[in-house]
Amino acid sequence: MKEARTWQVAVLPGDGVGPEVVREAIRVLDTLGAMEDGPSIACTSFDWPSHQWHEQHGEIAPADYLEQLGAFDAILLGALGDPGPTSDPHRYLLTDSESLAPLLGIRKHFDQWACERPCRPLPGAPQFLKDERAADIDMLVIRENSEGEYVGQGGRLAAGTVNEIATQIELFSYRATERIIRHAFEQARKRATQRAAEDRARSFGPDACASQVCLVTKRNALGHWGEMYTEVFAQVAADYPDVATHHELVDAACMKFVTSPWAFDVVVASNLHGDILTDLAAVLNGGMGVAPSCNVNPADRSRPPMFEPTHGSAPGIAGQNRAGPAAMLLTTAMMLDWMGEEDARAAQAAARLQAAVAADLAAHGLDDRTTDAVTSAVISML
Ligand code: IPM
Ligand code: MN
Repeated sequence: MKEARTWQVAVLPGDGVGPEVVREAIRVLDTLGAMEDGPSIACTSFDWPSHQWHEQHGEIAPADYLEQLGAFDAILLGALGDPGPTSDPHRYLLTDSESLAPLLGIRKHFDQWACERPCRPLPGAPQFLKDERAADIDMLVIRENSEGEYVGQGGRLAAGTVNEIATQIELFSYRATERIIRHAFEQARKRATQRAAEDRARSFGPDACASQVCLVTKRNALGHWGEMYTEVFAQVAADYPDVATHHELVDAACMKFVTSPWAFDVVVASNLHGDILTDLAAVLNGGMGVAPSCNVNPADRSRPPMFEPTHGSAPGIAGQNRAGPAAMLLTTAMMLDWMGEEDARAAQAAARLQAAVAADLAAHGLDDRTTDAVTSAVISML
């Protein structure tokens, strides 16, 4: 463990409820930082990327925004998209591809190739499944975040005519496939160790392994990348005999996320499949209001990771101090946890924040409280 240091965090509140929940995250970070044994975190807020910035400057963010962000240790983002309120038909509105471009731009520029979205329902969070085993759900969906269906290659021929043809190319490299699958196995091992320490070991497969990685593909229809993924998965799995393996087709995985989600541990999926599965996983967690997320480069900690809740800008309730901050606070705890790999104070703050959000949920669920009232309750339990 290295010496305590000051972490430089670029804060991007964004659009819609983004600024409202980010404001709460900063309150919490300030409180944690002011504690005697708290981490030292310096937050710098930017009013880009956002609709507001675009309205004033004609672009979603300054031309050099990626260089500016490169000077930070981590990025904390609220939400991008429709700024709301949706009741205002004259609000300044950009297309999704314009407003969300920085999200994909940041992930790509800093090579944040792993998107991690944990799913472990906390008592008090809404539970949409009746089966009582749903309380035991404990999975981590790891989404390939650098290529696949999201490379943005293709185009439109004869646009706007009846002869129009659109192509959208999916690209899967051996290199990105190997690193994401290996990362999934590493995370599975780490989770097994953590569960053993917390006396909640699990058992998977005929060999009673303490963890499992499930690969998701659509190899029955998309055979080219599906087969490459399957082969690489088998090669990597050979290095992890202590980890059980499993495969699901993405359509069957959707079904099983509903019928038996407690059977999964680590799930590794392509960019698009992971995107879809993590909305489903967010619901298993209690909904978008409690679903944290991060985009990291596990091989290079010098590239800033980006922490952002899975939810969007929720324009319908923007500006009303009604957005639940739990997802943003749990995301902030993920950021502290990432810092905690080098900084014991941050690790302790992560555990504190996680426990305080859990305690608040257990006491109040997602009751209709104002955004700042929820945060005040969380802060009182830090
Ligand atoms: C997410 C979002 C984004 C994605 C959109 C907004 C581009 O859905 O973070 O899951 O698909 O990656
Ligand atoms: Mn999504």
